[in-house]
Amino acid sequence: MKALVCESFGPPETLKLVDLPDPVPGEGEALVDVSYASLNFFDLLVIENKYQVKPPLPFSPAAEFSGRIAALGPGATGFKIGDRVLGYTGFGCARERLVSPVARLVALPDGLSEEKAAGLSITYGTTLHALKQRADLKKDETLVVLGASGGVGLAAVEIGALMGAKVIACASSDEKLAFVRKFGAQETINYATQDLRAELKRLTGSRGVDVVYDPVGGALTEAALRSLGWKGRLLVIGFASGEIPKPPLNLVLLKGCDIRGVFWGDFIAREPQAHHANMAELLAHAASGAISAHVHAAYPLESFIEAFGAIARREALGKVLLKMGTTA
Ligand SMILES: NC(=O)c1ccc[n+]([C@@H]2O[C@H](COP(=O)([O-])OP(=O)(O)OC[C@H]3O[C@@H](n4cnc5c(N)ncnc54)[C@H](OP(=O)(O)O)[C@@H]3O)[C@@H](O)[C@H]2O)c1
Repeated sequence: MKALVCESFGPPETLKLVDLPDPVPGEGEALVDVSYASLNFFDLLVIENKYQVKPPLPFSPAAEFSGRIAALGPGATGFKIGDRVLGYTGFGCARERLVSPVARLVALPDGLSEEKAAGLSITYGTTLHALKQRADLKKDETLVVLGASGGVGLAAVEIGALMGAKVIACASSDEKLAFVRKFGAQETINYATQDLRAELKRLTGSRGVDVVYDPVGGALTEAALRSLGWKGRLLVIGFASGEIPKPPLNLVLLKGCDIRGVFWGDFIAREPQAHHANMAELLAHAASGAISAHVHAAYPLESFIEAFGAIARREALGKVLLKMGTTA
């Protein structure tokens, strides 16, 4: 089978496409024919050894996938050969075949394609956890989404709208803002050409913003925090700008507001029941079309440099996938 492999840490150009023997499923594991592996921004950090997850070398990048069960190891129950599944493994998915414990696989409902399913776990899973369990977002509250056209950002626009919030989507180009309007954003702000704080004040008046969803960090975080209203919540999702902000804490005191961390990877390990309930909700929404799981592009595995490049150059609108050669 073909596998994309990181043999020494570095940029995407240093990854290698190699032939490896098929893995063999052990006790409680399934062998999966991967259809699509999904890339996330953090994969860029993982392959450069700049992320909290540090896989042992050599490893395949990509943390989530969709595919079909090809074989079952001893004691692996609940699935049969040919079943369509998605899974989250942290890393190791950019390859034609992988093994996973069956406990970490989720069966795909009818009506949900393998293409849309591949990138559902992390972006939509993080976002539902963030807006539901962390922010306790209420109907008619104002939700500001930074980096709104990216992977987690688009998920926040869609899930926020589905939860009945008024979504203000913020991004760095008018093209990105026109795109997110199609997914439920009621208002938009171009933070490359407009003053984020002044625009949020204009749109929310003396009440201020209820919830900020921030996967970008840098200078935008303080401007968004200053725009929160009484008992507002700032959700710390990530730092795609590369800068971890250090906002003044007097703002938190004066607004009686909260800065709330969101760490999906630990949430699924610490609160598996809540995670499984979230996944069931997301699969139902994706199968019915209530959320789009929009795919920016599915690149052939050999085009991995272009795929990573779309994320690094801030071009991706929604999810970036790697498509295996064996996928129809
Ligand atoms: N907390 C969690 O559990 C969790 C889970 C998943 C992801 N994350 C984090 O969320 C962040 C976004 O992940 P993603 O996969 O959604 O990324 P993505 O699809 O690449 O989107 C990131 C967005 O950030 C903005 N951005 C600003 N400066 C950037 C830069 N220098 N390089 C790239 N993008 C930049 C871009 O929007 P504009 O051009 O419009 O500014 C881009 O659309 C990452 O930091 C990731 O680690 C956290």
